[in-house]
Amino acid sequence: MIKISVPATSANLGVGFDCLGLAVSLYSTTTFEPNDSKLKISGCDKKYQSVDNLIYRAFTKGCEFLKQTVPNVKITIDNHIPISRGLGSSAFCIVSGLMGADAWFNGHLSKEQLLDLATKIEGHPDNVAPAIYGNLGASFMDGNDVQTVHFEVASDLHFVSLIPDYPVSTEKARQILPKEMSYQTAIYQIGHAVALSKAFELGDLKLIKSAIVDKMHEPFRSQLIPDYQAAKEICQANESVMYISGSGSTMMAITKDSNSADKIISNITKSFPNWETHLLNVGTNGATVI
Ligand code: HSE
Repeated sequence: MIKISVPATSANLGVGFDCLGLAVSLYSTTTFEPNDSKLKISGCDKKYQSVDNLIYRAFTKGCEFLKQTVPNVKITIDNHIPISRGLGSSAFCIVSGLMGADAWFNGHLSKEQLLDLATKIEGHPDNVAPAIYGNLGASFMDGNDVQTVHFEVASDLHFVSLIPDYPVSTEKARQILPKEMSYQTAIYQIGHAVALSKAFELGDLKLIKSAIVDKMHEPFRSQLIPDYQAAKEICQANESVMYISGSGSTMMAITKDSNSADKIISNITKSFPNWETHLLNVGTNGATVI
């Protein structure tokens, strides 16, 4: 039996739109075992238990890349990453499937090859890079090649995921963005994104608070999350800063104080009893074969 563990990931981090991504300490696992028939999937909704399942599709891509026949396989998913909420559920599926195939055929893929294949399937590297490497990733495309660097993140930063009971479609969240941006805004974003990466490494919450404030996507996307302002006020009242995780609907609060984290969770739960919350830290482990 092969078991793969992959962390949830939070892309963008405010000013790092389509570039930055953070692995967080919420891990999901997938097991791959030989099976009598072509495919058996369990641990997910019935509608995903077919050859169209993203984990299986990535598994077959991995087999094809390794020039191996796709084996009959039983896939068992133990997923804690909510679907379509901006916490990298598709990156989890893609990385699990590729690593499952690689481990099945004795592990020859390098992390670079894995990242390249995962990015081709996902279409962008900002979630799959930290899912593979852990920590904070800054990634970009150089033609068809993915470039990625990783920063360590101060271990005393707490990340509180506030997960609404409604999704936001990534497609809609991209459509709502303006087509152009001024030089002035581009300069603002570059300076803030570079400083933010260092601020995470230092665990400098004061710098994070000022560097994370985005002008490129959050002002537009916040309109798609009806409770954005209420959640933000709860975070601001409790020594933390909040950003939209990926394309939403999850919002992530960052604080250094565990009492503040607890208060955010209790206030959010009071106001939004159907939301899910998690107190997380940086995910220092990227995807691993257990
Ligand atoms: N960077 C992407 C976005 C992540 O914000 O649209 C969504 O998968």
